[in-house]
Formats: sequence, structure tokens, C-alpha cells
Amino acid sequence: MRVGIIGAGGIARKMAKTINGMESTQLYAIASRSLEKAKAFAAEFAVEKAYGSYEEMVLDKNVDLVYVATPHSHHHQHCLLALEHGKHVLCEKAFTFNEAQAAEVLAFAKEKHLLVAEAIWTRYLPMRHMLDEVIASGIIGEVCSLTANLGYVINHVPRLADPELAGGALLDLGVYTINFMLMVLGNDYERFDSTVTMTDTGVDAQNSMTFIYPEGKMAILHTTQLASTDRRGMIFGTKGYIEVTNINNPEWIRVFDTEHVLLKEIKQPQQITGFEYQVEACRTAISADAIECPEMPHQEILRVMRIMDLIRSQWK
Ligand SMILES: NC(=O)c1ccc[n+]([C@@H]2O[C@H](COP(=O)([O-])OP(=O)(O)OC[C@H]3O[C@@H](n4cnc5c(N)ncnc54)[C@H](OP(=O)(O)O)[C@@H]3O)[C@@H](O)[C@H]2O)c1
Repeated sequence: MRVGIIGAGGIARKMAKTINGMESTQLYAIASRSLEKAKAFAAEFAVEKAYGSYEEMVLDKNVDLVYVATPHSHHHQHCLLALEHGKHVLCEKAFTFNEAQAAEVLAFAKEKHLLVAEAIWTRYLPMRHMLDEVIASGIIGEVCSLTANLGYVINHVPRLADPELAGGALLDLGVYTINFMLMVLGNDYERFDSTVTMTDTGVDAQNSMTFIYPEGKMAILHTTQLASTDRRGMIFGTKGYIEVTNINNPEWIRVFDTEHVLLKEIKQPQQITGFEYQVEACRTAISADAIECPEMPHQEILRVMRIMDLIRSQWK
């Protein structure tokens, strides 16, 4: 599979390093709004083709999969551009700015019969299944509640401060806590409430979200772009609890009993960066002529976007 990247920014660099460490996939092309920048990226990561516009790259017949690595504000536009030219798409999170944009992209993918996947890497990681197995084993009993947080000092980053670029903590970081909750507690939450503090630039700096599930189960989520947090996910049960270190790319899963005695620990398997699993999932799906990845089906992409729309509607 030959990949072409749209946008030669920070995350594109991480993806380039990842693909260069993979056997099954070739990083074939890079597209930037600046040819100079594309050429420098291509030289650094041994990419065959460098394009000075996104439009030129999608005309290249050798590109199989386009990785959309632009700000969330532009995902809708760049996904449609790639699909229009017959390319499969792996699009960074947050998938789009809102659910309506996501629905449009996914409907177009269906019409064109092309794969569209969201690069929410957590969903594709082996640690996701390991966590499922630990919970299913009953070692912590019945799950009652969970907490999850994610925070980095990133309020100064233009992309994250600017409402025009869909900045703010929710779309950038909250998306991980919401995905963590949905993976652990499922989709049938009953209601939720949220609070926010805003930056001077008009994006959400910090937020908290509380979801209520049947039988009174709770999820308490927090993200911030003002501080570095411990990135932990904690799952509390009737017989003990689980600590997940770093919810977006779990490094450790540790299980404790009600007396805080460590019962079990699972270390993350060796990885290139962790991005390789989503790329491999795309390759597998394309080989099977599928238009979605089972790890993150289209309905789930829409669900997460819908939740984030509803949360923001509570902040008005
Ligand atoms: N999965 C993860 O762990 C992870 C981590 C960080 C970010 N991300 C996601 O990746 C996406 C990109 O984030 P990033 O941190 O790589 O951002 P970034 O460093 O700012 O790069 C984004 C790139 O998008 C292109 N772009 C196109 N239109 C733009 C515009 N109007 N303003 C600014 N840039 C524009 C630029 O590339 P050219 O100048 O080359 O055209 C820019 O370098 C976001 O959706 C983010 O959520 C994911």
C-alpha cells in the first residue's frame, strides 16, 4: 500500500517515521501548501514524491491511501478532495468539526465505495483488547465508574488557540477521553453534563464531562490545554480497580484489589510509535474491499462527533 500525506506538520512527521518502519506500507508522497516544505519533508523521510499542493498529490495514480494530517477544521474538505479522486482515506482525529461534516464525508465514501477510517489510534492498539480481557475476566468485579484525563500545555499552539482552526481541548483531547469511556462502558449512556472554561481566543481551555450509564454507572472525564496531566484512565469495580497509564496509547494496565494490592500488570507490546496498527487496519480493510475499519466503524465516528456537538451545545 502506498500512502500520500496531506499536510507536512507535526503529526505527519510521526506518521512518516511510523510508515518508514513498516514492511507492508510505503510512504510514497507528501503534499504541502509549500513545495519547499514538501521537498524538505521528502528528503528527511525518503519520500518518493513531493507536491506543492494537495490537489496535485491526489491526481497521482500511485497513491492508494491519503492520510489527512491537517487541522480538524480542514478534515472535511481534505477527505472529500481525496475521495473525489478515488483515494482511500485515513483522517486524523477529531474526524471533522461536527457530526454533519462527518456524515457528509462518510456518505461520500459509501457512494464512491472507498475506505474512510479515523486515525483515533487508541481504538486499533493491542492494549485495547488486553484491557477488554482484563475487565471481562471479572477480576475487578462489576464496573461502577471510571475517570479519564488528558492534558498538555498547548494553549499557545496556533492550531489549538484559533477557533477558525477548530481549536480547543475538547476536539483535540476530549475525543480520547470520550473514546476511552465508550470502549469501557459502551454506547448506551443515558445522559451527561459538562462544564467549561474558555480562553481569551474563544476556544475551550478546560472541560469536565460526567456521563451517567444504566444502573447508576458513571464516567468522569477531564481535558485541559493549560496543564500537563497524568493521562490516566481509572476503572473502578466492586472487587478492585484498573489503572491505565496514558489513555491515548496505554503503556501499562495495572490491576489492584480493594486493599490497593497490585494483582496484575500488563506492559505495552513493543511498537514503532503505535500508529502502525491503524495503518495496518486500513490495509486489511482495503484488501477486504471494506469501506470502514471494524476497530472504529463509521457509526462510532458519528457517535463521537455527535457527543462532542451536544457537549458544545451545553456551553452556549
Ligand atoms: N493522533 C495523535 O496522536 C495526534 C497528535 C497530534 C495531532 N493530531 C491531529 O493531527 C492533525 C494535525 O495536527 P498537527 O499537530 O500535526 O498540526 P500542525 O503541526 O499544525 O500541522 C498541520 C498541517 O496542516 C496543514 N494546513 C493546511 N491548512 C492549514 C491551515 N489553514 N492552518 C494551518 N495548517 C494548515 C499544514 O501543512 P502544510 O503547510 O504542509 O500544507 C500544517 O503543517 C489534527 O487534526 C490533530 O488533532 C493527532
